[in-house]
Amino acid sequence: MSAVGTDNAWERGRFDAAEGPGKILFGRMYEDVSIEIEAFPPGGRILCIASAGCTAMALAPRHEVVAVDINPVQLRYAERRFAGQRAVRGTAERFMAFGRSFAPLVGWWPSRLREFLELEDPRAQMNYWTRHLDTPRFRMAVDGMLSITALRSMYAAPFLDFLPARLGSVMRRRLARGFARHSNRANPYLRALFVGELADQAPPREAADIRLVHSDAAAFLERQPARSFEGFTLSNILDGAPAGFERRLFAAVKHAAKPDAIAVLRSFREPPGDSSHNLAADDRAMLWGIVDVRRAECLP
Ligand SMILES: C[S@@+](CC[C@H](N)C(=O)[O-])C[C@H]1O[C@@H](n2cnc3c(N)ncnc32)[C@H](O)[C@@H]1O
Repeated sequence: MSAVGTDNAWERGRFDAAEGPGKILFGRMYEDVSIEIEAFPPGGRILCIASAGCTAMALAPRHEVVAVDINPVQLRYAERRFAGQRAVRGTAERFMAFGRSFAPLVGWWPSRLREFLELEDPRAQMNYWTRHLDTPRFRMAVDGMLSITALRSMYAAPFLDFLPARLGSVMRRRLARGFARHSNRANPYLRALFVGELADQAPPREAADIRLVHSDAAAFLERQPARSFEGFTLSNILDGAPAGFERRLFAAVKHAAKPDAIAVLRSFREPPGDSSHNLAADDRAMLWGIVDVRRAECLP
């Protein structure tokens, strides 16, 4: 695994602007892989972003999986998980745990959270959310914690520039949209968010076959034979990427895509308008503004 050498902030393996070694940023993934399972017909070669390895492991029993990551520390972590090592908390999990430590101050008692997480009926969930959790104190705390001023103390500029204005209220809206649609009880992504549960299922046998590559995704795809992948799941790598990267990535995806290949791309951005390609509401992680699923050849 050699250095990749791009001007991409993700390559440093840190959210902050400080000098220092790269870190495990994500101990688990916050992307609902049922989107990919639904989008990619079984079989076929899929390119995914390694991150914490959850998506790669979930796809491996049905696909030949190539997992790339620009952060070598994150890539080695995914590799250890494929070999059966337990998930650990990364920087993202530590930030979220810090946020959750204030929960009792806004009336989010552990018993209340447990009760909410056990609910199954979206109507009951919305009722509980409105009456017990989405309180004025909670709203004030979230809006403060997700204000640009607060986020600047933890994140370097490239990770903030693309975020929607009034992120606190945007995220509360996305959560409510999720509660109105998905059963809490069956939602592992909600437990990750609200109580910090790590994803700790044993890796499938096929995890041993996942090919791991230390590379920028666009640079890797440019080196691949034309029409060699049936699917691409690119996490939210455009959030925080340098100018010009989107054009390069989409060109590389189109080059490597077989006819009818599908591309999945997430983003924290607000969607530009109603789009039939945007499945953000279906993603049980509830965090995303955009979960774009379309044929690779239809990328802009
Ligand atoms: C975009 S981040 C976001 C985390 C993700 N949403 C999750 O739930 O795991 C996921 C991973 O993408 C990697 N990454 C970012 N830009 C990349 C690029 N251009 N090529 C390859 N990997 C990239 C990061 O190093 C990180 O491990």
